[in-house]
Order: sequence, then structure tokens, then C-alpha cells
Amino acid sequence: MSLESVILSKVKESPFDTRELSEKLKLDYNKLIQAIKSLEYKKVLECKIKVLNEIVLTESGKKCLTAGTPESRMFESIPENGIKKSELMKIFGREGQPTFGQCMKCGWIRSEKIETKEQEQEKEQPKQKGKKKKKQRPDLMLFRKVEEINDLVLEDLKIIHDRMSEKLTKKTLDILKRRKLITTIQTKSFVVSQGPEYEKYTTTQKIEYQTCLKKGMLQKNNWKSHTFKKYNFKSLGVPTKGGSLQPILKVRSEMRKAFLEMGFEEMKTNRYVESSFWNFDALFQPQQHPARDAHDTFFMKNPKKAKQIPEELMEKVKTTHETGGYGSIGWRYKWSEDESRKNLLRTHTTAVSSKTLREISKEPFRPRRFFSIDRVFRNETLDATHLAEFHQVEGFIIDKNLSLGDLIGVISEFFGKLGMEKFKFKAAYNPYTEPSMEIFAFHNGLNKWIEIGNSGIFRPEMLQPLFSGTRFNDYKEDVNLSVIAWGLSVERPTMIQYQIQDIRNLVGHTVDLQMVKKGPICRLGFPRKVIKEKKKEEEIKKEKN
Ligand code: PHE
Repeated sequence: MSLESVILSKVKESPFDTRELSEKLKLDYNKLIQAIKSLEYKKVLECKIKVLNEIVLTESGKKCLTAGTPESRMFESIPENGIKKSELMKIFGREGQPTFGQCMKCGWIRSEKIETKEQEQEKEQPKQKGKKKKKQRPDLMLFRKVEEINDLVLEDLKIIHDRMSEKLTKKTLDILKRRKLITTIQTKSFVVSQGPEYEKYTTTQKIEYQTCLKKGMLQKNNWKSHTFKKYNFKSLGVPTKGGSLQPILKVRSEMRKAFLEMGFEEMKTNRYVESSFWNFDALFQPQQHPARDAHDTFFMKNPKKAKQIPEELMEKVKTTHETGGYGSIGWRYKWSEDESRKNLLRTHTTAVSSKTLREISKEPFRPRRFFSIDRVFRNETLDATHLAEFHQVEGFIIDKNLSLGDLIGVISEFFGKLGMEKFKFKAAYNPYTEPSMEIFAFHNGLNKWIEIGNSGIFRPEMLQPLFSGTRFNDYKEDVNLSVIAWGLSVERPTMIQYQIQDIRNLVGHTVDLQMVKKGPICRLGFPRKVIKEKKKEEEIKKEKN
């Protein structure tokens, strides 16, 4: 008989207690509960929990059942002609004294004093002053007082063993508890009875459902006699494994959205390898600048040198570096073409900006805004906040007469879209911008000021060579063509957004794929909206007051 049918037939007789049934039929308790619970789920059975405070024997209580109570054992160990108490105590050890008391209480033992020689002497000679002797207790001689004992405690323990503790008085139980022979434990069991579906479940014949047509059924041609399970079109399938975006990509798309909302065009950033010319020289970065050292920059071995650099422009860049122009005295050193042709992994996307500026100057001038978000490379020692590559966000605006005010304005608008509200600007230095500013923003989540980027107005020494001989050159005399620009890394805001402490947990082979899969979408602008709404609310409140 299966466990299920045992349960069903038992409950047909009468409701039962799960503990009792499992003991009676020697069933595995967990399996019994499992089977009952599944039937309860189908409403075939009903279960009511029953909590019982049960009095049971402790380990020493159980020992009494087999070896006798300590007091009876003590009684047994007294020989006919008596025993010295000290000897008896040796046998019983720590239990000795209380057990002795128990025997006396029951009236099973009598004692006689015996006096040692010393004590006798002491009695004869009165105490000598000053000489204090440790007084010894007189030993006792113990004898049995009765022929046979009636061990009531053992009887009581047997009653408890038979689970009939209700027969005993509270006083008796308290005494046994104090002697640590019994204890109370809480047991939980279920009282199981028939459920509303019981009749139906037990009377209908169980059909063995087939889930699909099998080869054998066709071969034996008996498929018609089988019952097939109906398709369940409502059942949920296994979740599909879709791709998921890396946090950096999520932040990148938010940033791109912010730029696009502000009317920016995206620059072409598809070249990781650039010439030193576009990465440094065209940006008026002197050739002996520390950033151009192999310690900071990855130079290419193959192809080592760039071929296609506009000759005319190169000549202009060279003179600007060497002797200046446009109101500048230049860097005043011997510019090397060889150095300029060295290929490298671009160290910043400003290399793309310089190229783009040259590109757009071939068309008639119109105010334009550009951005890019892509990878750059720096020869850094790896640590928790630095990798040899990262993503850079770059933006620039070209227009007539742009000022620092425009820069601050546009930066506030852009970063505002990324959820930042308060800004601070600090004077800084870049070879290609003047003035230059580091940008700090107050991060509401972190509750502190953090550096978020670098910015500035591109220097004439950078712009004029790029524009000379182009259509923008026409504006040189009467119009002040200017370019404001800024740049920042994508990693930093991403780490803040996704609360990642170590950059190596964001990029590279140590990234936790579950983090990538489970990471929420990025809503950089969201906090700002909330803050704005809060401000509005506050203003309304103020007005009301
Ligand atoms: N290129 C700078 C950097 O790598 C950022 C920057 C871009 C600064 C544009 C000023 C203007 O940090």
C-alpha cells in the first residue's frame, strides 16, 4: 500500500494525529507530513496544528528505568552488617549526599555514630589554647532499616514513560523536575481529517495521463486507448535568456540621450589608434609634455608611424608650436615631425574633437554642437579606481563669441540632465584650453562634492591652425569664432550610480555577470526631476504661509 492510500484509509476511519500515526505504523515523519501536505493542498485533507506540552523523562530519568533510582541503588549497596558512610559516599561520588538524604527521607537507612581514637582522646583532654586542630566530622555507620523497599519514584517515572503524567499530582511532578528526572517539551503535530475533495478524490478512478504520443503506442496501435493530457496554454514558460547591457553601456545611453536632447551631433570615434599629431600636436600640446611619455601613453609598434597627415596643416601646427602666432609666442622649441607621426592608442577623445573641427571647417560655418562617448587608453598602474582604458565623454560647441558664461551654462544644463544640481568650478590647466576649469558637482546620494570633469575654451593656438585655409578662416578677422569643450569619464558616474567600489568589478574579467544581468536600468536624470518637484512643493508651501 502506498503512503497516500494508508493516509486516506486511516482518515476514513477517524481523524488522526500525525505523531501518533507515525509512531504506531513506524512511518518516517517527514515523508508522512509531505504526503499529507500535498493532499491538503488538493483539499483532500484538512490539517489542524496541535501544540502539546509533553512531560518526558530526561536522560537520568531514563537511566532510572533500567538501573533503578539512585536511592534504591544506594539501599542495595549497603551490606547486611552495615557500611561506613565515607565509603558509601566514595561509591556514589557527587550524587552521594543528596541520594543519602533521599534514603533517609524514605526511612530506608539508619545510622550510628562511631568515634575515632583521636576524638576519644580529645574528649578526655580539654582543648589546648593556641593549638587549633581541624575538627573532623565523626563518621557514621549505616545499616538497612527495612527489609525491602517500595520505590515510589520509580513507579512515578514508569507512569511518565507510559505518557500518563496526568495521573500524577503537580507536587510530585515538581519534585521530579527539581531532581532533573523529567522535563517538559513542546511537540507540534497535526490533526488530520477529511477535506471537501476527499470523496471525489477517493472515488474517481485515477487515470494515467500521457503527455505525448510515443513510438510504442503507434507500433502497438493502441494509442486510442490512452488518455492524453491537455495542453496548458496558460502555463508560464521558462524565462528566456536575453542579452543584458553592461552598466557602462546603460549610463552611456543615458548620457547620449542628454546630448541628443540638447541638439548635439555624435562624432565618429571608430579609431582607437591615432597619430600623436591629432592626439597632441593639433591640440597645441608640446612634444616634451609629460603626458607624451611612454609611461603615460601606449605607443604603437606596428604601424609605428602615421602617413596621412595634411601637410599644410602640419606646417601651421609646427610654426605655432615653435614661434606662435595669433598673439602667442609659441612653445619655443624645435618641433619634430617624426615625433608627431608616432602612432598611439588615443589618450583622450579630444583627439576626435580636433579632427572633427578640421572636418567641419570644410563646410560654411554654422553654430554646431558635437559629442562623443568612447574608449580611451592610458598607461596607468591598475588599482581600484584606475584601469589602462576607460570611456570618455566629450562635448564641444562652436559658435561666435562664446564665453565662460556659456560654458558654465551648457555644462550645468548637461550635468543637470544627469541628475546633478549644484556645481562648483575651479581654475585648472590644459595645454589646449584657456581658461580651463575643473567641474565639481554636489552628489545628493553621496552627500558630498565630487570632481566630475574638465573643461575650457579651446585656445586660438589650437583653433587657428585648424581653421586656416578653410571656410571658417573667413571669419577670422571680424568674428570671434570660439569653441567651448568639456570631458569626463563614464566609469566614475557609473560606479557611483551602481554603487561599485572597485573599477575591476565594473570592467574586465572579474565582473560578476549576475550584477550585469540583474542591474536596473539607469535613470540619471531622475533625481533631478524629483528635486525639482520637491522644490516646487516647497515654494508652494512658502507662498501659502
Ligand atoms: N581631454 C581632457 C581630459 O582628458 C578633457 C577635456 C576635454 C578638457 C575638452 C577640456 C576640454 O581630461
